[in-house]
Amino acid sequence: MSLPDSGKNMLIDPSKRKISYLRVSLTTRCNFRCLYCYGLPDFVPGPDPKLKDEQLLLLLNAFAKLGIEKIRFTGGEPLVRPGIVDLVKAASAIEGISRIAVTTNGLMLSPLLPGLIDAGLNGLNVSLDSLKGDRFKEITGHDGFDRVFGGINDAIASGIFPYVKINMVVIRGINDKEISNFAQWAIDRPVDIRFIEFMPTDKSGWGKDRLVPEKEIKERIGLPITELPRSDLHAGPAQSYAIDNGQGRVSFISAVSHSFCKNCNRLRITADGNVVGCLFGKRQFGLKEILDDNPTEAELVEVLKEMITSPGFRRKVSKQSISSEQPSMRRIGG
Ligand code: GTP
Ligand code: 5AD
Ligand code: SF4
Repeated sequence: MSLPDSGKNMLIDPSKRKISYLRVSLTTRCNFRCLYCYGLPDFVPGPDPKLKDEQLLLLLNAFAKLGIEKIRFTGGEPLVRPGIVDLVKAASAIEGISRIAVTTNGLMLSPLLPGLIDAGLNGLNVSLDSLKGDRFKEITGHDGFDRVFGGINDAIASGIFPYVKINMVVIRGINDKEISNFAQWAIDRPVDIRFIEFMPTDKSGWGKDRLVPEKEIKERIGLPITELPRSDLHAGPAQSYAIDNGQGRVSFISAVSHSFCKNCNRLRITADGNVVGCLFGKRQFGLKEILDDNPTEAELVEVLKEMITSPGFRRKVSKQSISSEQPSMRRIGG
């Protein structure tokens, strides 16, 4: 017989949303300069104060005690953090953590992939906004299309990931003409093409004229698609669709067209140790000073339990996933 969950050692926010998924930014550094993320190709980033590996692991252990089951490493670019493979290994050894994923730009994926898989990585999302080398360079500021594409093919060949997820942020006038090419890719290969509505984030140059709404993306895919049930307990905002006779599938992440606040199951940690209650929320909860005082895991657990109910930390369920806040994707990691 299983007893009902008392919620005592769980992170449940005042809107009764249970938190089971933690997105961890490992660095603000990135080897790309995506025009909607860094703003300027010659942007020079400031300092990158980071939690030490031991601090991060203590924190992850405390979160696991509170019901976190899935961890996603983001950045900046998570694969530029030295020791990333060891971090994945240590995180996947934590009791209760069953899913370890990264969201990467893919540039360093090929050489690191075998080590990451050995270390326990079981989810992979790669950002890729163009299938054309020259446009890829215009968007990312880097001539790295072949390397990224090679990394994706290696990941597919590994057979570890049910789908390699491809994040395409659709921006009108930049890459929207490639919508159907991306969808075609999912016919032949086991990729999950995630068409992401462009969101108004810091330095993104967002404007309504740049947004291609989900409805239009669907029309421009040019393939019959069928909505799939949400089978994954840790599913995020993506809604997936099967393609007739396709090995892969397509998904939509449409924070501008729809709100997914009601089902939000996640918190975020910035590289410098702030817990972010909501991507588009105001409040962050600083942990750096607390971690610098060498707390025990039990002490940290108590701090985190208090944090989740502190007023305004989590936005209330809203009809809009986005707000007038413009989060920095470099810092928070999406
Ligand atoms: P899965 O764990 O594979 O479902 O990944 P994910 O889609 O949650 O993560 P990923 O890092 O691939 O992010 C894809 C897009 O979803 C990015 O543009 C993120 O900023 C966006 N995203 C993820 N979570 C949220 C959220 O809670 N709110 C909003 N507005 N966008 C989100
Ligand atoms: N709107 C939507 N998605 C974005 N990302 C970065 N900036 C934006 C934005 N303004 C995506 C990246 C990456 C993920 C973490 O967030 O492309 O795939
Ligand atoms: Fe780097 Fe990702 Fe920002 Fe591009 S979107 S510059 S890959 S952190």
